[in-house]
Amino acid sequence: MNKSPDAQRMEKIVSLCKRRGFIFQSSDIYGGLSGCWDYGPLGVELKRNVKNYWWRVMVHERDDVVGMDGAILTHPEVLKASGHVEGFSDPMVDCRTCKARLRADQVIEKKGIRQCPNCGGRDLTEARPFNLMFQTQMGAAADESSIAYLRPETAQSIFVQFKNILEVSRKKLPFGIAQIGKAFRNEINPRNFTFRSREFEQMELEYFCRPEEGMELLEYWKEERLKFYENIGISRDRLHVKTVPDEERAFYSKGTYDIEYDFPFGRQELEGVAYRTDYDLSQHQKASGKSLEYFDEETKQRFVPHVVEPSAGVDRTVLALICGAYSEDEAPDEKGKMETRIVLRFHPRMAPIKCAVFPLLKNKEPLVSKAQEIVNFLRPHMNVFYDESGAIGRRYRRQDEIGTPFGVTVDFETLGEKDAALRDTVTLRERDSMKQERVAIKDLASILSARIS
Ligand code: GAP
Repeated sequence: MNKSPDAQRMEKIVSLCKRRGFIFQSSDIYGGLSGCWDYGPLGVELKRNVKNYWWRVMVHERDDVVGMDGAILTHPEVLKASGHVEGFSDPMVDCRTCKARLRADQVIEKKGIRQCPNCGGRDLTEARPFNLMFQTQMGAAADESSIAYLRPETAQSIFVQFKNILEVSRKKLPFGIAQIGKAFRNEINPRNFTFRSREFEQMELEYFCRPEEGMELLEYWKEERLKFYENIGISRDRLHVKTVPDEERAFYSKGTYDIEYDFPFGRQELEGVAYRTDYDLSQHQKASGKSLEYFDEETKQRFVPHVVEPSAGVDRTVLALICGAYSEDEAPDEKGKMETRIVLRFHPRMAPIKCAVFPLLKNKEPLVSKAQEIVNFLRPHMNVFYDESGAIGRRYRRQDEIGTPFGVTVDFETLGEKDAALRDTVTLRERDSMKQERVAIKDLASILSARIS
């Protein structure tokens, strides 16, 4: 059967990610660990750029948000109070024919008859809840008292530390606590590359407010988050806001939006923005017996704050960036013949490597030493890559394929051999347009910094 263009595109993306060192299957040489992924040298840079930019706009550029970094191992009482021990489950179905374990929503229904999507078998078990949390033991004793969980979301440690952070930060409502970190879910069927993983990272903000501010802040954060995605280069046309209907929303939420993205495998959630009322703090207050109330100096009232939560996935954002950036166009090869060029059109802010520096020839010492001088001079400002091997056209292509937005070539003009006026200038090439301009070496850092900030 012919694969659809979207399926082919996804295959090319997965293969590029492996070939160029963005993302590898975890434990690859042992056959892979399902639902777990390792980020290679370029993937880790891309991921860091996403997290750093999120932190910049959500924490550093605001007066009303502070950060934290909580433990992954979590006390069972925390997750009992939050409802995860009792209710954090997906309905699961087993196929008795091929032994596949399926999420109930994957089962196909034809004329009222349930079928396995793998083998078409009709002998399926009834759906039963499957808790998605990873449980572990802490310490030497292996009994009930030693149970701990790997956190299924970063949010809970924010709620649990609310009072401590309120005291040390001396913030007034509304204010937020932000966190980026790993979360773990024993997904029944991890799939679509990194989209549904068992180990992933979240970027979460819990923005505490007065009850009457909740609905307005829900709108505010939805808009802020859409701006974030546009500012990292995700096209607005591919982003969609779904208003989660009453029957799908958590019972305590007064309003939830899903920000969705058009992946090659369909429109899927990137982030949830939820108005969670005072549910989480009230639950922890009840279960711990410790007051999590806020005292309003102006009105002299004491109450449990409400919260609006924009909760984004790092891995899904990285995947959306790669899927959106992947493109193929035509460019001339060394002999002027047109060939297919693979380009990752990352926004320069997100690109793993910002600038590649090339001496025109590797066996001309003055070219090489000038190029290395430029690398050392740019390095404090950005992630730079030096490459001297192969024809210059091939070197450009290698950088296009990993999304490097700028290339600097040191040639004989740089040495002033052809025209003294061009001494200490270089060719600056832009990845998407392939346009070249001549710039002075002394201006390079400021020109490039302005374009990547
Ligand atoms: N604190 C709220 C919360 O965790 P969620 O909708 O379950 O809400 C938030 O998760 C975000 O975390 C999702 O929008 C998604 O980006 C990411 N995420 C959730 N499960 C994931 C998984 N299995 N693999 C990758 N990312 C996931």
